[in-house]
Amino acid sequence: MKVIACYSMKGGVGKTATSVNLAYWAAKSGAKTLLIDLDPQGASSFYFRVQPSSKKWAKRFFKAYENLVKHIKASDFENLDIIPAHLSFRNFDTLLAGFNKRKNRLKRVLKGFNKEYDLVVLDCPPSISHLSESIFIASDMVLVPVIPTTLSERTFEQLMAFFKDNDYPQDKIIPFFSMVQAQKSLHKATMEAMSARYKIFLNTVIPYSSDIEKMGVHKAPVDTFAKSRQASYAYHELWEEVSETAKKLA
Ligand SMILES: Nc1ncnc2c1ncn2[C@@H]1O[C@H](COP(=O)(O)OP(=O)(O)OP(=O)(O)O)[C@@H](O)[C@H]1O
Ligand SMILES: [Mg+2]
Repeated sequence: MKVIACYSMKGGVGKTATSVNLAYWAAKSGAKTLLIDLDPQGASSFYFRVQPSSKKWAKRFFKAYENLVKHIKASDFENLDIIPAHLSFRNFDTLLAGFNKRKNRLKRVLKGFNKEYDLVVLDCPPSISHLSESIFIASDMVLVPVIPTTLSERTFEQLMAFFKDNDYPQDKIIPFFSMVQAQKSLHKATMEAMSARYKIFLNTVIPYSSDIEKMGVHKAPVDTFAKSRQASYAYHELWEEVSETAKKLA
């Protein structure tokens, strides 16, 4: 089982759009996939039309894998299950602060899914916190959407530096360009500069696309309502590149 986090400390960069479409394509390609929505906003749960639990359960989240199992919901798609977010997940940081070995908590609970799933996708909230650190430890791959603009470049550099300063393996960080508007000279120049500086960017580029925005209207992954369109191809390609990269991991 591989764990892939869609993560950035920056908000609104495409983490949720990536989680939803990546989980969809992974499941479609035959991988038993579990999407865990860690963001109290619950956006990926919404896109999959999955209702959150009616009870607060953040307190039990990091205690044992069995607590998570109770909250697994089936999606409309074969091979794809969801653990929806609950608003009480906003307390994750405070809760984690109270645990011994808090950084390893998430890894420990996720281990329980090893037999049942090939892939766990984590849709992460935009922060750099106790939860983020537990995500860095639990994940085999930290997939980072980067909008090619100056501030996003800066945020990405901060993330690389954070990994280095805290001895997290930098090779877990797998960035790709998101919401790209190829006609913008700033986007083109930033992509060229960042790809030359960091040789770790995936080749797949996710374009800025109104089809991706429409996921909110259709409450579904982009392929289900915009088949054979550029945005759908781009996420399929992203999944293929990500799964090839995952195979090379130890
Ligand atoms: N490639 C894209 N093209 C156009 N719009 C996009 C694209 N990706 C995401 N969006 C839109 O941008 C907004 C933010 O996207 P998304 O929710 O995926 O980002 P996020 O990083 O998960 O945000 P947050 O930090 O709030 O969790 C949404 O309205 C989404 O529909
Ligand atoms: Mg999100």
